[in-house]
Amino acid sequence: MKKRLGIILLFTLLFIGFIINWGYSYKKGLEEAYIPIAKEQSLPIIFSEKKVFERSEFALDYLNMPIDEAHQRTLDSYYNNRAYPGAPPSIPHPLIKGERGMGGKACLQCHQNGGFTDKFNAYAPVTPHPEMINCRQCHVAQNESSFFKETTFKKVLFAQVGNNSALPGSPPMIPHEIQMRENCLSCHAGQAAPKEIRVTHPDRINCRQCHLPDTRKVVDSNIFTRIKNTKDE
Ligand code: HEC
Ligand code: HEC
Ligand code: HEC
Ligand code: HEC
Repeated sequence: MKKRLGIILLFTLLFIGFIINWGYSYKKGLEEAYIPIAKEQSLPIIFSEKKVFERSEFALDYLNMPIDEAHQRTLDSYYNNRAYPGAPPSIPHPLIKGERGMGGKACLQCHQNGGFTDKFNAYAPVTPHPEMINCRQCHVAQNESSFFKETTFKKVLFAQVGNNSALPGSPPMIPHEIQMRENCLSCHAGQAAPKEIRVTHPDRINCRQCHLPDTRKVVDSNIFTRIKNTKDE
């Protein structure tokens, strides 16, 4: 009798042990099945398009900004300050007294975000390239407004404005190069933007979604046409 009870007890203990063990590993198994929430993945930014978004945080400010009619720039004065399309404009104002540096912060205090400068009675144009801090490497001060001697130098024509759409109302193509001009809002929005090219929709952010560069003038597709092999005919 005692032997039988002992065997039953042994099996009961083994059974309880099995249940406990199984229950424990089952619970552990449930824990392991926990799927962590995937970390938020940011899409890779296309390098050549990155700068389009650089000033987009100011898009709504640009949209709601009243137009200061008295101090608008025109394309004429814009072109006047450039030797050819894409040339760095000269610095049309006196440099800050004793300023001998290459630029950097001294220039960015006015040119990073623009705004009205009482001293020059004008809005400071926003620079499309605040990261190129050696400003005076490319921008030289304007000391003379006329030539010492007349020259035969003629400016290459700038691109046309207002004649770049395929259909009335369709988005005009970008008539200029985009190298160094990736930061669209810096020239096309805000008080310092020449009035002819000041955009009505700075809030649309991704400009190149609708506006394509007009490369028709640059690419001569004839170069790429395969010369026919007369033997095949
Ligand atoms: C106190 C503010 C201020 C500072 C500092 C300043 N600028 Fe300007 N800058 C202006 C204003 C305002 C204009 C527009 C002048 C005009 O339209 O008559 C301007 C115009 C220019 C232009 C002509 C832009 C164009 O589209 O034609 C260039 C280039 C320029 N500045 C470069 C510089 C550089 C380089 C420095 C640093 C050495 C500098 N500026 C420092 C306010 C400033
Ligand atoms: C590597 C040469 C280079 C450097 C360095 C440089 N710029 Fe320019 N900048 C240019 C060129 C080229 C343009 C004309 C871009 C165009 O019209 O496509 C320009 C245009 C500008 C404009 C006029 C934008 C407009 O409305 O057309 C301003 C303002 C300006 N730069 C300010 C600055 C300031 C301020 C610095 C220093 C923080 C600086 N630049 C550094 C080459 C340079
Ligand atoms: C350095 C200043 C500058 C930058 C940056 C710039 N533009 Fe322009 N844009 C101009 C000027 C100036 C014109 C007038 C034509 C010319 O001179 O090339 C113009 C003309 C245009 C036009 C034609 C407008 C019309 O009515 O025909 C479009 C569209 C345009 N730009 C789109 C863009 C887009 C999109 C970007 C950004 C990828 C950009 N621009 C960046 C200065 C700039
Ligand atoms: C959803 C498409 C779309 C996007 C995004 C867009 N545009 Fe336009 N854009 C248009 C259309 C359409 C027109 C023609 C408007 C008209 O003729 O009334 C236009 C016109 C223009 C013009 C000519 C002047 C004007 O305002 O009518 C310029 C300059 C311009 N866009 C620049 C830009 C810039 C800079 C950006 C980025 C901030 C941008 N666009 C984003 C569709 C777009």
